[in-house]
Amino acid sequence: MVSARGKLAGYGYTLDRLLDIEREKILKMHELANEFISYDYYVFVSPMWNLNSPAILKAYIDNLFIAGKTFAHTINGPKGLLMNKKAIHLQTRGGQYTGTPMEALESGDRYLKIALRFLGIEVADSVITEGFDINPLKVPEILAQGQENARIAAKDFALNPVTV
Ligand SMILES: Cc1cc2nc3c(=O)[nH]c(=O)nc-3n(C[C@H](O)[C@H](O)[C@H](O)COP(=O)(O)O)c2cc1C
Repeated sequence: MVSARGKLAGYGYTLDRLLDIEREKILKMHELANEFISYDYYVFVSPMWNLNSPAILKAYIDNLFIAGKTFAHTINGPKGLLMNKKAIHLQTRGGQYTGTPMEALESGDRYLKIALRFLGIEVADSVITEGFDINPLKVPEILAQGQENARIAAKDFALNPVTV
């Protein structure tokens, strides 16, 4: 996949000049990107793992960065092509980061927002539900608050639709 990407982007190869295995891998990547592009609203849900998101989420996002399809190189720098689309991220955390010095270390929600904005998508404020591991007795309470916050965010999505 990496060599196919290099040949297409860096050396201007056409698909038919790739090795069969390269073509197969790159077409799978385009298939995932096409599916993603076909939607107008995205809801990402992920736990914080070691200050970031689980690796599979990063791997998924890696399939969406396709020059000429989801973003373009312009003389003014890269430009996202996925306009009029909205996303939200629901993230859960074992610890407490919001309002603490730990906040600056959070990299999963931050990266996801940066990546989606890079592609042109409008990203709403994330719904963060945190403190599960440090407040085991309060889990039902934390969960109920997280669910309520998610409902509010869903209403905001519904009341402010994108122009398609
Ligand atoms: C491998 C792993 C790493 C984790 N790293 C963090 C972390 O860095 N910070 C944190 O607050 N919670 C961390 N957690 C706790 C999870 O964020 C927490 O269990 C999760 O958000 C709750 O959702 P779940 O029920 O889907 O696991 C980690 C959990 C796992 C399994």
